[in-house]
Amino acid sequence: MSITGKKKKQIAVLTGGGDAPGLNAVIRGIVFKAKSLGYDVLGILDGWKGLLDCKECGVLDLDLVSDIHMLGGTILHTSRTNPYKVKDGPKRVKENLKRLKCDYLIAIGGEDTLTVANKLSKEGVKVVGVPKTIDNDLSETDYTFGFNTAITRATEAIENLHTTAKSHHRTIIVEVMGRHAGWMTLEAGIGGGASIILLPEEPFDINEVCKILLNRKKKGKHYAIIAVSEGAVPKKGQMELQVEEKDEFGHVRLGGIAEKLSGEIEKRTGIECRHVVLGHLQRAGTPTVFDRVLGTRLGIKAAEMIDKKEFGKMAALKGTDIVAVPIQKAVGKLKTVPKERYDEAKIFFEVD
Ligand code: F6P
Repeated sequence: MSITGKKKKQIAVLTGGGDAPGLNAVIRGIVFKAKSLGYDVLGILDGWKGLLDCKECGVLDLDLVSDIHMLGGTILHTSRTNPYKVKDGPKRVKENLKRLKCDYLIAIGGEDTLTVANKLSKEGVKVVGVPKTIDNDLSETDYTFGFNTAITRATEAIENLHTTAKSHHRTIIVEVMGRHAGWMTLEAGIGGGASIILLPEEPFDINEVCKILLNRKKKGKHYAIIAVSEGAVPKKGQMELQVEEKDEFGHVRLGGIAEKLSGEIEKRTGIECRHVVLGHLQRAGTPTVFDRVLGTRLGIKAAEMIDKKEFGKMAALKGTDIVAVPIQKAVGKLKTVPKERYDEAKIFFEVD
């Protein structure tokens, strides 16, 4: 009950898909703003799975969330569950929202979570989205939270690997996450001083990669770091890649390109290679200040959007402003690295 004696309206909040540093900052922003607007916030556990199974952790109070913006992961836990792949899934989600006395829903997630939110919105659910992904591949927002922390981790790794690569005269291939968007590899590769950067947006030529490495050697640089996206692929017919399994949203589980490249380069050039897969280290641990602040601002905006009845929309960063944009537009097209941004990085490849 509020001080006026009226039953408070309740917002359900969930986090779906891979965890990303900054999720807790969003939750904290939502809870503080929602309380100030007279709403209660109910925590749903394990993403969409929690709404299928009616699994919640109670009303989130200010004390509980007061310092969580500094923590990585998500206090609400997460899953990669797609309710549209479950029998009567959307119906169960709607029924459970009613059962839990939630009038509104805030879904924090990436392309998959927001695609579900968009479909539910079309079916009448009063939902607002918050864009999350370390991959930074969502359209309609300049940056997603989680990305800054992930590139900070990857940059540190690439930078640090220089000393061991130099000491042993080796080429070290660093595999960076990001699925089919090369943002993380591009920015961490530039920031950490990678000698070559390979992105999913442009199939790479293994002959060209070897030429650059041999050219560096000729010039007396007996080491190199290659930053390669987990989703990078060689030009047709150059190297064989394994067939991967798919998850509920139809995504293949990527990984293994660094190891493949390592063997191929050694075979073709005789240069000693090692490979490192950064994997989940990129999204583990505490968020950077950028992600804490961005997450906080997005959370505040999402609560405001509920109050203003801006359903079917998502809070987004445009320049320095946080604005509301249609979820439909954000999930319609994956935001990948444009050619001109990749060309900037290529200036530093020592081709000759
Ligand atoms: O989308 C975020 C991401 O970390 C991708 O970069 C990566 O391919 C995938 O999730 C890994 O998924 P999981 O955590 O399910 O292994």
